[in-house]
Amino acid sequence: MCKLRRPRGKKFLLPGKSLRQAGGNNMTIAIIGLGYVGLPLGLQFARSNVRVLGLDIDAKKVSALNAGRSYIKHIKAGEIKRLVRAGTFSASADFAEIKKVEAILICVPTPLKKNRAPDLSFVLKTGKAIASHLQRGQLVVLESTTYPGTTENELREVLERGSGLKAGKSFHLAFSPEREDPGNPRSKVANLPKVIGGYTPACLAAAKKIYSRAIRNLVPVANCRTAEATKLLENVFRSVNIALVNELKGVYAALDIDIWAVIAAARTKPFGFMPFYPGPGLGGHCIPIDPFYLAWKAKQAGQETRFVELAGEINRAMPEKVVSRLTEALAVRNKKLRGAKILVLGLAYKANVDDDRESPSYRLLDLLAARGAMAAYFDPHVSVIKPTREHPHWAGMKSVKWSRRTIAAFDAVLIATAHIAVNYQQLADWAQLIVDTRNVMVEIKTADGKVWKA
Ligand SMILES: NC(=O)c1ccc[n+]([C@@H]2O[C@H](COP(=O)([O-])OP(=O)(O)OC[C@H]3O[C@@H](n4cnc5c(N)ncnc54)[C@H](O)[C@@H]3O)[C@@H](O)[C@H]2O)c1
Repeated sequence: MCKLRRPRGKKFLLPGKSLRQAGGNNMTIAIIGLGYVGLPLGLQFARSNVRVLGLDIDAKKVSALNAGRSYIKHIKAGEIKRLVRAGTFSASADFAEIKKVEAILICVPTPLKKNRAPDLSFVLKTGKAIASHLQRGQLVVLESTTYPGTTENELREVLERGSGLKAGKSFHLAFSPEREDPGNPRSKVANLPKVIGGYTPACLAAAKKIYSRAIRNLVPVANCRTAEATKLLENVFRSVNIALVNELKGVYAALDIDIWAVIAAARTKPFGFMPFYPGPGLGGHCIPIDPFYLAWKAKQAGQETRFVELAGEINRAMPEKVVSRLTEALAVRNKKLRGAKILVLGLAYKANVDDDRESPSYRLLDLLAARGAMAAYFDPHVSVIKPTREHPHWAGMKSVKWSRRTIAAFDAVLIATAHIAVNYQQLADWAQLIVDTRNVMVEIKTADGKVWKA
């Protein structure tokens, strides 16, 4: 997690000061896109006594929220119910309602197209939908991760064209990236410093006024593109460092050195080192995607992004390497991957969450199936695979039952995600062979040769 640092400046709240004291009670904002980013952000504003109107095109999400139900594992239904009852949070699919709000925060997806070019269609569609209702004096903030220039160019143009208003003159415009850390109970939206860039100094001031109601530390920067570039630096930094340890994993294994032991020792250095861990490949809606937003924009400016490309190449090759290691482990037991029953343990892309977007487990399932193995999965947080654009062929597949009989029936278990809800001692006792990409078996007692690190 990033270090919390309070920026210098008079208007920032001191840690510990109640955010509710920061202004009056009569502020209403709209949050567009109630997913992993928009929902927790909306709830934090609602908790801070700002009236929040959540807008989403997904009618199921809208009705779930108004009924006080949660569709994200780490967000508690009780909290939603309490805020809906208190009248500070409500959801709707009617964009006309944004006429009544002071600020509109956009938290919609920014995926990649098939050729790894940015897909801004969600942002632009949302911009169009806002534009026809935009009022003088309102603030529009883009929170979705994107390449530098999106807010002051593409989004501004769509808003101005549809509304007939001018950004920086008749309405305010800003960019403020989200720093969600799903599944980390110590990471609270209110305590994470929030970077904000305005289209003009007045836009920045308007954005600071809104965010200071719900967020303790604001980090104002020169303009929207600096804020957009900050988010990309944070995510490229992770992608590159994960690629580095993924590469070193292979190098050190060839030298009979355990990369995990090396990282554990290196992290005792109190300065100049930050641990990153190897794995079966990148997942989630950020790290595998966002660096390519920068790469695309850099190309437009005639610049190269060799670190981004190389990290992407190394990280994308990980599932193949993991399957090769599994093949090797099976061969020692005189088994072939073709025809073997393989259980992928963990479908979510990271530990203790139910988010399976871009998960490397799908790539593992695809590779296993392509090589003639019979693949299944177990995930305590994903009971059934929902239809997705990227992996429609796996939709409907159910997580296997956790029992000695089921687990023992697999020729090998391939650990892809380190969920703490899994009983790894039982796994060690029941499984025939374990290939561990997360080092979760390191402290678990097992028979010799049963666990292979990958
Ligand atoms: N998930 C994370 O941990 C994380 C962290 C930081 C930044 N981000 C960025 O935040 C943005 C949103 O990510 P997310 O993970 O919340 O996505 P998500 O898919 O969980 O949520 C997006 C929501 O937007 C809704 N939506 C789509 N089009 C819409 C439209 N035209 N109008 C209204 N609603 C619409 C969807 O129905 C969905 O509920 C992305 O740019 C992402 O890169 C995500």
